[in-house]
Amino acid sequence: MTTAPELLPILIVPDARLRQKARPVAPNDPRIPALAERMLATMYKAPGIGLAGPQVGELLRLVVIDIHPDDKPDPIVLVNPEIVAASAEAATREEGCLSLPGQYAEVTRPARVKVRWTDLAGARREVEADGLLSACLQHEIDHLDGRLFVDHVSALKRNMLLRKLAKEQKAKARE
Ligand code: NI
Repeated sequence: MTTAPELLPILIVPDARLRQKARPVAPNDPRIPALAERMLATMYKAPGIGLAGPQVGELLRLVVIDIHPDDKPDPIVLVNPEIVAASAEAATREEGCLSLPGQYAEVTRPARVKVRWTDLAGARREVEADGLLSACLQHEIDHLDGRLFVDHVSALKRNMLLRKLAKEQKAKARE
């Protein structure tokens, strides 16, 4: 018999934990497989295409991603991911974040990145990504350093999004 993994609460801006730097996952940390499974279940349910440890209050360098959540599940679990190369060429895409529900902005980042990480089996992995996967990897790795997508837009746009979020969260709390 299988039981569905228990979902995790997703922290919402301005929770201070979203602004902290996450620490590396220790080799063979026995909690990681179950935590990754719960993070994936939480991400699919939200629904979202990426989730980082700090977003569920775990200040660990752990990320889960699935950029095709509507097709056959194709999850990637990244332990201690690092961007090791980034293209000079930039690309702009609309981004959102489960920690800033309902808020979206055009974000400009390097178009392509090379990312290295350790998988759940302890193997070293590397990918050269472009398009949506590139943006998603950069967005999630930002979370591990306490950065949010709104840090990549103008102060004017950022303040507008943060005010709108605060207002919507307040209205939601009253429901
Ligand atoms: Ni995010």
